[in-house]
Amino acid sequence: MSEAADNPVLVDPEKYAAVADNFVYVHRALRRDLARIIGGGDELFASDFLRFARILEKHSELEDTLFFPPLEERAPGSTGASVDQHRQIEALVTTLSGGNSTDIQGDLAKLQELLLTHLDDEEQQIMPAMMKHFEAAEIWALDGRIMEFCSPEFMQEMMPWWFTHIDAADRVCVAQNILAGVPPEFLPVLSQWIASGLDETQWNELVGQVPALAATA
Ligand SMILES: [Fe+2]
Ligand SMILES: [Fe+2]
Repeated sequence: MSEAADNPVLVDPEKYAAVADNFVYVHRALRRDLARIIGGGDELFASDFLRFARILEKHSELEDTLFFPPLEERAPGSTGASVDQHRQIEALVTTLSGGNSTDIQGDLAKLQELLLTHLDDEEQQIMPAMMKHFEAAEIWALDGRIMEFCSPEFMQEMMPWWFTHIDAADRVCVAQNILAGVPPEFLPVLSQWIASGLDETQWNELVGQVPALAATA
């Protein structure tokens, strides 16, 4: 691992911005939503777990099919542990979302334990490896392909979910990254989806800091 990867101060801010959406800000929303679902008991599990499962599944799929194969080519052996964790997490999520769990709260606690370890591992191993082995422009090019893997229906569900499960400072960072990394033709509809998840105060606060977002909405 490079010196820069060990020391956040030395990380290239352009590279960090390019990896942060997937490996920092989606992870924060996943942690927060699962904790919220667990805190809400069986009722919130029944209403909200399937959405969480769909978003987590797509996140893992993007890593397995878009981000990990090129990283594995440049850094052989770097992604195997994360792929194994995806399979374990997927099995537990399938049990829970298929109505086959005999102990929902116990299985949710197990899922949380697996997921928190997994997300931390990716942030500590995969994210620094991405920044070490790729130029910022190469990572942006991968980010720019995310929409190829996501149906409009999925994005319409995911974007409001994302922006309501991160804090105001993170919303600013993610909005700026989206403006930088997503093909311009997608921006108007992405802005609409973000706006639909936020109340008026939250949206105005965000646009105040990222004025370009309003121009596309
Ligand atoms: Fe991840
Ligand atoms: Fe993952």
